[in-house]
Amino acid sequence: KLRVLSGVQPTGSLHLGNYFGAIRNWVLTQHQYESFFCVVDMHAITMPYKAKELSEVTYKTAALYLAAGIDANTSKVFVQSHVKEHAELTWLLNCITPMNWLERMIQYKEKARKQGENVGVGLFDYPVLMAADVLLYQTDVVPVGEDQKQHIELARDIARRFNDQFAKRARPRVLREPNPLIQKDGARLMSLEDGTSKMSKSAESDFSRINLDDDPKLIEKKIKRCKTDSLKGLTYDDPNRPEVRNLLTIYQLCTGKSKEEVIAECADMNFGTFKPLLTDAIIEHLSPIQKTYNELILDRAYLDEVLTKGAAEAREVAAATVSEVKKYMGFTQPL
Ligand code: TYM
Repeated sequence: KLRVLSGVQPTGSLHLGNYFGAIRNWVLTQHQYESFFCVVDMHAITMPYKAKELSEVTYKTAALYLAAGIDANTSKVFVQSHVKEHAELTWLLNCITPMNWLERMIQYKEKARKQGENVGVGLFDYPVLMAADVLLYQTDVVPVGEDQKQHIELARDIARRFNDQFAKRARPRVLREPNPLIQKDGARLMSLEDGTSKMSKSAESDFSRINLDDDPKLIEKKIKRCKTDSLKGLTYDDPNRPEVRNLLTIYQLCTGKSKEEVIAECADMNFGTFKPLLTDAIIEHLSPIQKTYNELILDRAYLDEVLTKGAAEAREVAAATVSEVKKYMGFTQPL
């Protein structure tokens, strides 16, 4: 079986973009692959955060994976910081990664701009930690949203550089080059308030996104308020109407209908008729997830059990990779 690994940062609430860009696709493909799903808490500390809240959000994120349909019996669900090899491989890879590869990272440049003077080394190094996440498990496929594509390409470059520098003749290659898996629809959901910027956890306004734990009243309010226009009809194709395309995409994903079906149904609608329809579709899609989530989040013992087992299984694979990497890099083995 091919291997899959992916992860979400435990920062704030997860939103529809995280869900349709990533988690939903993990759920749909998890039985086809040997799957590793990680709550990347060490990535979450690369921006200012509240130490008191980190563990709570980490549990929440894990509970959402499960509530969304990740099967803990077949997939390995774990917390990144529980497997220390992530940090260890990051250091080893740091020492073969050119600074200028990281300076090119779009997400770093965007986040650094926001941070001003306070850009930490960790934020700069974030993509190497992410490469370590992926390379530790000899991952073939990484299901992510569009915004992570550049990071996966970097992971490929780092793997190739390691193999070329230290293990030119090793077959199979010591580190496997991963491929991103990015869906056609939903890989880049946009803000509800501005169809030209990405739906994001860090946007100031909570009305820019639908969080997976928003209750029906709030969802209704957010859709009522979201940005639209007063042109006639609804279409995916007008580049001047990115908000319309985004809302149609959300409707399509929540109902499971095809694009053609959505066009046939909605092309002649105005927002007055479409918005209630969209609201219901979102509520209906999220409500079973929320129901399960509300039960799981109260069952700390069960979550601990899942995460402990997941970490143990992950560690086995991760430790083998680190040991190979260190061997090729020339380290002595401790007795
Ligand atoms: P994060 O936590 O920002 O986002 C988690 C996943 O959600 C996707 N995503 C979106 N998809 C569609 N539309 C959006 N508006 C949207 N916003 C976010 C992201 O592409 C991602 O798939 N660096 C990663 C986490 C990470 C990781 C990894 C992922 C760390 N190690 C190893 C894969 C493999 C991140 O910050 O994602």
